[in-house]
Amino acid sequence: MQSLLDALHSDALNELTSIRQLSDLDSLKTLYLGKKGKLTDILQGLGKVSAEERPRLGQIANTIKTDLLTRLEQKRDELQKQEWAVQLQKEAIDTSLPAHRLAIGKHHPINKTIDDVVDIFTRLGFSVETGPDIESDYYNFEALNIPSDHPARDMHDTFYLNTGYLLRTHTSPVQIRTMEVQQPPVKIIVPGKVYRCDADVSHSPVFHQVEGLYVSKNVTFSQLKGTLEHFLRALFGPEKSVRFRPSYFPFTEPSTEVDVACVNCGGNGCNVCKHTGWLEILGAGLVNRNVLKAVNLDPDVYTGFAFGMGIERIAMLRYGISDIRLFYENDYRFLKQF
Ligand code: PHE
Repeated sequence: MQSLLDALHSDALNELTSIRQLSDLDSLKTLYLGKKGKLTDILQGLGKVSAEERPRLGQIANTIKTDLLTRLEQKRDELQKQEWAVQLQKEAIDTSLPAHRLAIGKHHPINKTIDDVVDIFTRLGFSVETGPDIESDYYNFEALNIPSDHPARDMHDTFYLNTGYLLRTHTSPVQIRTMEVQQPPVKIIVPGKVYRCDADVSHSPVFHQVEGLYVSKNVTFSQLKGTLEHFLRALFGPEKSVRFRPSYFPFTEPSTEVDVACVNCGGNGCNVCKHTGWLEILGAGLVNRNVLKAVNLDPDVYTGFAFGMGIERIAMLRYGISDIRLFYENDYRFLKQF
């Protein structure tokens, strides 16, 4: 039996040296040391061996088994390392390859336009104020000299909330909120979202306005004209013609709408300006006496001017965009042009 064991030992070692793959190692292990393997086969004969011989042969069998197991594990380590080396070689990364270009974020054209508008006014000494998007009827209409039966309410396409509040239809309520807590001189610029139930290529139910308000003693219409002329030329170019047309807003008196020469045709007439040569940019006027009274300012002591403009319209004109919805679709091909 000892010679059988010795032969098994040397056979196994021989085969082990020629093994090149991890999977063959497992088969070899099963072949020699498995439950139905060659070693078990030989040890089945142990019953026929004399009782004195049995422990010695058992011990030899154990030594052989331990030796083979150790060598199998060494071989496994060796093969594993070889396999990893091959895989590393295959998956090697060429660090000298050029990297993928990362897309760089830019300002959205609406934010950019708001920033530019606000910048021009802060340089004139206006400070930025904001107010809530959800407003009461009082701030959005009543205090601005628009009582509930006033026809101007129809122009606003208001979203009413069932709480008795509404989504502000313009940034003008911030005029009231600011004058309630600040004494003149008040000189503010108010960027913000406004809401009207209206949607087509040039109207969005949510859009942006910038409001301006200057209240002090002896504020005049000519100061309003000078301020807005300066603003429009800073925004659209120093040579741009500007015109003031009489208009009507309940919260200003007198009121005006302000146009600049068409950015597309320069004033000759085209589709963009509907062949008038002019583009309407903002509404403005001297603060109505009733508005000053609503915030407990004496209209015989204080005067002021106010103006408001739609940012989407200005951005569309500046960048030559014909559909307002492009601003909100977040199409990267559109956004990356700015
Ligand atoms: N709030 C007006 C609008 O939304 C614009 C405006 C503001 C006009 C201030 C005059 C003075 O149309």
